[in-house]
Amino acid sequence: MEFAVWTKGLAALAVDCLVVSVFEETELGAEARAVDAASGGRLQRLLARGDFTGRAGDTLLITEITELPARRVLLVGLGARAQLTRRGWRRALGSAVTALSRTRIASIALALERPAARELDDYYFGRAVAELAGSTLYRINDLKTGKKPPAPALKKVLAGPVRKPDAAARGFRHGAAIAAAAAVQRDLANLPANVCTPTFLAEEARALAKRHKSLTARVLDEAAIRREKMGCLLAVSQGSQQPPRFIVLEYRGGKSAAAPVVLVGKGVTFDTGGISLKDPPAMDEMKFDMSGAAAVIACLTLAEELRLPLHVVGLIAAVENMPDGKAVKPGDIATSASGQTVEILNTDAEGRLILCDALHYARRFRPAAVVDIATLTGACVVALGHHHSGVMGNDEALIGQLLEAGVRAEDRAWQLPLTEEYFDQLKSNFADFANVGGRDGGAITAATFLGKFTQGMPWAHLDVAGTAYQGGAGKGSTGRPTPLLADFLIHRAER
Ligand code: BES
Ligand code: MN
Ligand code: ZN
Repeated sequence: MEFAVWTKGLAALAVDCLVVSVFEETELGAEARAVDAASGGRLQRLLARGDFTGRAGDTLLITEITELPARRVLLVGLGARAQLTRRGWRRALGSAVTALSRTRIASIALALERPAARELDDYYFGRAVAELAGSTLYRINDLKTGKKPPAPALKKVLAGPVRKPDAAARGFRHGAAIAAAAAVQRDLANLPANVCTPTFLAEEARALAKRHKSLTARVLDEAAIRREKMGCLLAVSQGSQQPPRFIVLEYRGGKSAAAPVVLVGKGVTFDTGGISLKDPPAMDEMKFDMSGAAAVIACLTLAEELRLPLHVVGLIAAVENMPDGKAVKPGDIATSASGQTVEILNTDAEGRLILCDALHYARRFRPAAVVDIATLTGACVVALGHHHSGVMGNDEALIGQLLEAGVRAEDRAWQLPLTEEYFDQLKSNFADFANVGGRDGGAITAATFLGKFTQGMPWAHLDVAGTAYQGGAGKGSTGRPTPLLADFLIHRAER
């Protein structure tokens, strides 16, 4: 898709459709007024008749406007003017793209009244337009055998008005890259677990590195993982017929000596719970338990696509968590790569077991920052619902950067406390600690566990159990937290 800024009068533009906004006060936006004047007052008459009320998210396509080269206008409701927020504006933009996707309209000029500049400057305006156009047109990579609907027709988006066309253009480029990266995550996470195995993820990483010179991939097979003494990771994978993979996907954009940002992804391609078997309802959703890994791959494609002047290392622990005669049992003790021993009281708390070995592996890179991304705990969903990802860590500056990136990217996170007292819950009589700390504060005790492996490295943990995918009728990967991480990396590249 092509994005550009429109400059001359909107009404004169020779595109397939003009997209303008209407407030609930049935008041046309500034650009819509010019279009109305050029079309002989047609829009005002329509509003006066009550055919369109400007309710947030409503759209109405008007055709055959012979006075305009575009001939079509899409009205988009923005709700009450005083209540317009960036979020509401983004939602309205999404509705507009959805409405357009049901037509064969290929080119548009967009002029949705924006919330205050403080909320949405020209860069973020451009970014939102490109990101939302991309993410709204995303189609699930399903395996349905029926005839596929035709690909969306929309190819060209002119957006405005803007004061700083350069900033908007940069926003377009970044927004398109973010949508493309989120689609990488979504495609991988939406795949069924019989296709998306640890081996499959490793092959994807290899294929990516083959396509792009600035990316390199290294894959550790089971023997190599054993040589790294990743006993906790192996304890999880020993119950599966699928061999584990440990993937190192590296992007070198900045000075080669620069300390890297290390992104660590939980790649449980299916989580049955193991011997601590999960309940059947919604167990299929545990195919999304590799969303963190998919987000890491997505972020590396983004760094490459935008040629960010950064050194980014992606580490992915990819395993399947299954019950089996050989599976790890409650009470078994595993030795992590760090040497610390873990009593595995619940085999369903497997995410932290693979992450602890991956986080230890991160040490060798002497990282400037380590961020792990994991669908780690149901407790985080209980605490925060599906709106915020949970953030914890040992470095307040890093946590602050992630929180701010989430706000800017409209992919928010919320910090939970991570203080020493939670550690008591992980005490074990038989090993250095247990892998579970009971139900209370479950998201925090999980992070506390990880914290035992990240001492001395600036580290933050994103629990995306509630945000990385949706259940129900709209079941599927959301692509989160790729927008947050993308913003974090883009900002870091500018420092
Ligand atoms: N993958 C799950 C966490 C999860 C739960 C993600 C719900 C998305 C939705 C994780 O491996 C898990 O099973 N965690 C357990 C931990 C418990 C045994 C301490 C959980 O949250 O129940
Ligand atoms: Mn589990
Ligand atoms: Zn899991």
